[in-house]
Amino acid sequence: MPSSKVRTLELNEQIPHITKYMGSKRNLIDFIVKSLNEVYTGKETIVDLFAGSSILSGALRNQAKVHSNDIQSYSAVLANLYLSNYDWISYNGISEHVVDKATIIYENYKKNNNLRFDYSKINSIDALTKIEAKQRNLYKKDFTHQDYHLFTKYYSGTYWNYDQCLWIDSIRKVADDYKNTNLYFVILASLMFAMTYNSQSTGHYAQYRDATSDSSMKDILIYRQREFLPYFKRKFADLKVALNENKYAFRTTTLDYSECLDEINPNSIVYADPPYCFVHYSRFYHALETLVLYDYPEVKHKGRYRTDRHQSPFCIKTKVEGAFVNLFQKIKTKESSLVLSYSNTGMIDLESLKNLLKKQMGKEYEFETKVLLYKHSTMGRKEDKSRNVQEAALIAKKV
Ligand SMILES: C[S@@+](CC[C@H](N)C(=O)[O-])C[C@H]1O[C@@H](n2cnc3c(N)ncnc32)[C@H](O)[C@@H]1O
Repeated sequence: MPSSKVRTLELNEQIPHITKYMGSKRNLIDFIVKSLNEVYTGKETIVDLFAGSSILSGALRNQAKVHSNDIQSYSAVLANLYLSNYDWISYNGISEHVVDKATIIYENYKKNNNLRFDYSKINSIDALTKIEAKQRNLYKKDFTHQDYHLFTKYYSGTYWNYDQCLWIDSIRKVADDYKNTNLYFVILASLMFAMTYNSQSTGHYAQYRDATSDSSMKDILIYRQREFLPYFKRKFADLKVALNENKYAFRTTTLDYSECLDEINPNSIVYADPPYCFVHYSRFYHALETLVLYDYPEVKHKGRYRTDRHQSPFCIKTKVEGAFVNLFQKIKTKESSLVLSYSNTGMIDLESLKNLLKKQMGKEYEFETKVLLYKHSTMGRKEDKSRNVQEAALIAKKV
């Protein structure tokens, strides 16, 4: 593609890891940045329309204007984390201070509740099942004496144990003390990291595991005996090292993609990475959404999902084509370019998607497709751990 290039995007490879995310482009970020460079000239805003784990914001921090969007609120927390400008000198001793505050809250909660669930002597499936069920019953208990009690009440004995939930609530309370500063994002992201690596589920929150064999019992016990706070501290320390100056303007939104496209600057570059398959992200990551919203939602089913979960048209067979048509038309109206990620295992086959793109965008655009062979993680949803797929970047450049 001919281009009037002034500047090329570089890949920032030091993107701190926060949470395992289905369909994350972390391992493909080089391919994505190269694809963006086909259209980027140095002045456009890059719109990450379906930002998810916001890895692209991490890759582009301090080198381009970014507008990060996703319908899920945790994604905006991560984008704000990666894109904020940090002056750590003015926050001297902050991580110790945050940990001390959280520890005092945790000790108080623990003392007042006077509950104990001791895993150290659990050595049978039956004993494990019983201690977990007791904690899940806390859902019926009145916790109004504990000002931040959402996770203690809703999730003890599910993805986390009671003690880990007490930590989640304690740290979440401290985060609110910093609500109007960028430390809020650092605290919440470090908390999400600790939640990810203390959860006994397989990297998402669609289901927690039951002990059905000696080996699953032993594995669950590893997570149940894990200490929560060291994970939080470690991530906080990592973030202080990895994130410093960002002198570029940025924006984060939590809009439906269609509304977001109404709001973007004309002549932007839209990077679109919509869901590829029928599983809704809101079911897999409801616990992260609830952590951020902290709104004591109505929950249902064994996995205790929020009942107001978002249903994406990109995950529904009868709606996906219309959703793409809308996406293409709105980008055209905004005279913007598009880099679209999709795979050959998606809801629409790649050839049909390419044809649809060309038909909608028409003569004012130049088209190119880049393809990469890639091993996709199934994140425990299939019998095999990973599958070979073709990962494509469909590029439509405004001429
Ligand atoms: C494939 S993932 C994006 C992964 C991301 N690029 C990354 O590297 O982490 C798709 C994302 O689209 C979001 N999403 C689904 N439907 C949406 C909609 N209608 N509007 C905005 N975001 C949506 C989901 O919440 C999910 O985070």
